[in-house]
Parts: sequence; C-alpha cells; structure tokens
Amino acid sequence: MEVIVLKDAESVGKEAARMIAELIRRKPNAVLGLATGSTPEPCYAELVRMHKEEGLDFSQVTTFNLDEYYPIDPRHEQSYRYYMDTKLFNHININKANTYVPYGLAPDPDEYCCWYEEQIKRAGGIDLQILGIGHNGHIAFNEPGSSFASRTRLIVLTAETIKANSRFFEREEDVPRYALTMGMGTILEARKIVLLATGEGKADAVAAAIEGPITTMCPASALQLHPDVTFILDEGAASKLKRRDYYEHCRKLLSELKMKRA
Ligand code: PGA
Repeated sequence: MEVIVLKDAESVGKEAARMIAELIRRKPNAVLGLATGSTPEPCYAELVRMHKEEGLDFSQVTTFNLDEYYPIDPRHEQSYRYYMDTKLFNHININKANTYVPYGLAPDPDEYCCWYEEQIKRAGGIDLQILGIGHNGHIAFNEPGSSFASRTRLIVLTAETIKANSRFFEREEDVPRYALTMGMGTILEARKIVLLATGEGKADAVAAAIEGPITTMCPASALQLHPDVTFILDEGAASKLKRRDYYEHCRKLLSELKMKRA
C-alpha cells in the first residue's frame, strides 16, 4: 500500500483530483467509483476547476457512487444523488445517464442492488475507486462486521454513523435508518483504490486500517488485501501511524528509482 501524507485537506483533494485527471487523460472512457461526505469535497471542487480551466473532458466517463441512504428521495438535499449533482455533475460535461448513484426509492432494494452490480460489470468494472473512511473504520456504508465477500445490498446503519451524519440533517431522527451500499467484495474488485482521510478524528481508524490486523471489525483493513491501494492523508489523519517515516522513505526511494529509469 502506498501512503501519501500532505499538509491539509485541500492538498489531499488536489492530489486525488490529479490522479483522476491523469486516468481520464490516459483513458477517456474511464469508469470512476465515487464517494460522498465532507472529505472528497475539495477533490470535486478541483475537478470542476480542471474542467473549466484546463478542459478536462468527462464526456465519455462513467461513474458509480458507493452508496445512498434508504429510503430517500433523490431530490432531497441530503441525498447523495443531490450531493453529486450539485458538487460535481452539474458543473462538468458528463453525460448524466452515465452517472450511477444507488436509487434511494428503489421499490425492491434486493433486485435493485443486483441490477446495480450488473451495471458495474457491463461498464467493464471500476478503474479507480475513491473512498472515505468512517470513524469506526467503515468504507461506503459497510459497517464493522460486514463480510469481505459482501455485494451491493441494503444495510442497517449503526447508531454511531447516524450520529456522525446527523450534522447534515435538522434532527437526528431525520437520518434514514437504512442505506444501499456497494459491498466489500464489490469495492475490492476495483482496479485501483484511493482512500482519502483528513482530520485527527480519523487518525485511529486510519492507523487500524493500515497497520492493524485484517478484521471485519475494521472494514477498511480489508484494503490490505488489495494489490493497488493508495491512502492520501493530511497531517491529522496520519498522526497515529507508527511507521510513517518508513512510508515516506519508500516514496522517496521509489520516485528516485523511477526518475533514473525514465
Ligand atoms: P466524511 O465521511 O468524509 O464526511 O468524514 C466519510 C465516511 O463516513 O465514510
């Protein structure tokens, strides 16, 4: 796993956007896996800037979002569909028909989740998956205990996630109790995974994910089993890593080697 530590949330977002842009320039019909939450906001702002100022072209890009509350109307301001439209899709030249966010009003969630998985397969699989991480180590809405083999499905949110997300709703009671989420198995099939984490509040979850045992009690620890994962962290989120110096040493030496061979 590669671990990149940058000074602040802004730099984390910019670095993630740079990786996405690099992929799109190399593969214009790239399939992106996208996340919501506060963490990726600077990344989406930077992608919008790159589109407007540098002509970054999303016309052939397809996207799949990780999750959505259930039930929730996609027009609801706290729905993840609304988030994606207002923070990214409305400001770039993406074909909205190629932007998939789980449908928060699906009449039959089980059937719908199978269909969602099918669409990912039909698109050729996810090239680059962006992830955030919860304080409890969740990725997407895969709460602790989620099987590493799980697929896209309806889940019940934990009390801690409801509490953490209640900051976006008027009252805690307004947070939906369920969600539709890509499964651990679905996420682990992405060709490349980039996890973003910012702020000291995430430091324990990040340390457990990178340096702790692989356990379903910290879903993000499953990323240790994936062959191409990059963690992009700010100082706060990296503050509990024990082997940080070694990660920096690796990055330096590997980039020196790359330069020599170029
Ligand atoms: P956040 O959410 O980016 O709003 O902190 C991350 C998550 O819970 O996965």
